[in-house]
Amino acid sequence: MSGALLWAKAETQRMNNALVTGTANMVDAEIKLAQKLQQRVRDYVQWYHQGERSRSGVSILDYGPGTVRAFQHKTLPLVTSLCGETSRCILVDRSNEFLCDIRQLPSAFGLRIEFIRHDIFSGRRYFFGDEAAFVVMFGRTFGNLAASISETPPVEAVVQALKKISNSAKRCWVAISIGSDLRKDVAKSYYEAHPDFQLNVFYRMKAELPIDDNFDPEVFDYEADIKGDDKFMQVIHTAIVKRNSTFYLKDKSIKLLDGDRLHLKNSFSFSEAFFKECAHLAGLASIDVLSDNAGSDIHVFEKAT
Ligand SMILES: C[S@@+](CC[C@H](N)C(=O)[O-])C[C@H]1O[C@@H](n2cnc3c(N)ncnc32)[C@H](O)[C@@H]1O
Repeated sequence: MSGALLWAKAETQRMNNALVTGTANMVDAEIKLAQKLQQRVRDYVQWYHQGERSRSGVSILDYGPGTVRAFQHKTLPLVTSLCGETSRCILVDRSNEFLCDIRQLPSAFGLRIEFIRHDIFSGRRYFFGDEAAFVVMFGRTFGNLAASISETPPVEAVVQALKKISNSAKRCWVAISIGSDLRKDVAKSYYEAHPDFQLNVFYRMKAELPIDDNFDPEVFDYEADIKGDDKFMQVIHTAIVKRNSTFYLKDKSIKLLDGDRLHLKNSFSFSEAFFKECAHLAGLASIDVLSDNAGSDIHVFEKAT
């Protein structure tokens, strides 16, 4: 299954499950926080520039918009709230499928939306001169930060990532969703209930890469390894090789041994105090924290100019 399809399917399943069981889930909780963000966003941004009320509006930059549903519920309301004469919306994602789906959305027609396939952690500047931007990163995407396995809080990785995100514009506000529930046992059982999500990458490798027939995507098991303290939690998504195998990826021979552990990616969660401290080190001032008090937070920052 393509990554985009798998994500859309999981998102629907989680929302339906929450409706049936009456419980909160991450997708649901974040949509509620995004609605709160939309109600407050006009108070966060400065409308006056050099003594005059700006008619140009504030542009939106969404790092990793994901599915149509996420874009419609979280980003689109902000675009309509902040839209002015010259403001625009830039969507950056490495998935062409996600960007193409949003491009075809009727509610996006007529809006000044630019679709850019790029790395969200590249530090690229998207807005120049006086163009002010409200930058968002929803869906706990920030937690997928690339960082090595560590027992100590990833201060440097978080600070550098925040600096890169806020480098997108000289004048900007940044809203980032993170997980803040640091209970390791809860995270472990949550992620291990959805192994497809992490192991799907091997099926995509088989379908998309120049890899020979000896590569078997079924050779992996999944485990969530967890580190952390009262400041952070690092979920280390790990694939475990079940039997020896050798295959060619293009012209490179790769040998996997029974029991090998492959670090696929991270899901980090952070305490409110730790995330604020890192933001301060990155030159960002905290202006609000929206929280469901059950592990989902959206931090709002202003870049010091
Ligand atoms: C966790 S999903 C969040 C999607 C959506 N914002 C939401 O709230 O549900 C992460 C999104 O970021 C994109 N993404 C993750 N890492 C990326 C990277 N390094 N560069 C570009 N896009 C990335 C993925 O393709 C996906 O669309």
